Amino acid sequence: MSVTVRVPAKVNVQLAVGAARPDGFHDLANVFLAVGLYDEITVSPADELRVTCSGPDAAQVPLDRTNLAARAALTLAERHGLDAAVHIHIAKDIPVAGGMAGGSADGAGALVACDALWGTRASREELLGICAGLGSDVPFALVGGAALGTGRGEKLTVLETGGAFHWVFAMAARGLSTPAVFREFDRLNDGVRIPEPVASQDLLDALAKGDTDALAAAVSNDLQPAALSLFPELAATLAEGRAAGALAALVSGSGPTTAFLARDAAGAVRIAEALAASGTCRTARVAASPTPGATVL
Ligand code: C5P
Repeated sequence: MSVTVRVPAKVNVQLAVGAARPDGFHDLANVFLAVGLYDEITVSPADELRVTCSGPDAAQVPLDRTNLAARAALTLAERHGLDAAVHIHIAKDIPVAGGMAGGSADGAGALVACDALWGTRASREELLGICAGLGSDVPFALVGGAALGTGRGEKLTVLETGGAFHWVFAMAARGLSTPAVFREFDRLNDGVRIPEPVASQDLLDALAKGDTDALAAAVSNDLQPAALSLFPELAATLAEGRAAGALAALVSGSGPTTAFLARDAAGAVRIAEALAASGTCRTARVAASPTPGATVL
């Protein structure tokens, strides 16, 4: 017997970052959109906890207990007095260390999968609480759709969207460490008074209306200068996507994946082809949004 859960990647259409807090985290106003690039997590009974991974980036995925999927299984088992004797297989399509919350997706997916396999029937509230303990982006991977994240990103308010948005994602040749990007943000803003992060009303209105042009005008990412500082080649990828007709071009989260908003599905295919041919990225993929969160298949 096994259970498979499909979990989406995310793009941040707004990532407003506040000053570093005493605990080292940053308060955020973080508008998440779940996009149609997925990892699939399959769990099945085993003698002991074991993690395996397949997919183009599999070699970069840790298979020990630092993997968020393993930590999710261990946390749920401990809370319910169970032994986490489970084989977790991650079929990975979300780029690793890419700024699209792939590791967070695996944590949320393993949690939902183990809950179904073990019949623990945890409440939505308990699942969200475990997700928040695993990482700032994990609750959103459970919820999907569109949401505003505040606090360190884990306090979610669900947002309604009035239509589909079409994206292209350009995967970079190497990854970026999220803590390193936040540290670079702190370094670049040393001595600068950083305002409280607040969600943009224009952006929320654009999402609610499904208005692609208004969304393109409103997207922002305060981590982009830090990501570009650590990975200057991304500027060329952003320029290629704009030249190919993207309505907006930005770094996804802490990067280095870059995100391009297209007018429609056909436009996205054209931009992806131009990016792939440009030699400024490893690969380019199209994906629509919003899409549901962790779902048992
Ligand atoms: O929450 P998560 O483990 O995904 O965060 C990874 C790292 O990113 C943190 O250790 C911290 O360095 C940085 N971070 C932050 N502020 C946030 C979220 C993450 O500084 N709101």
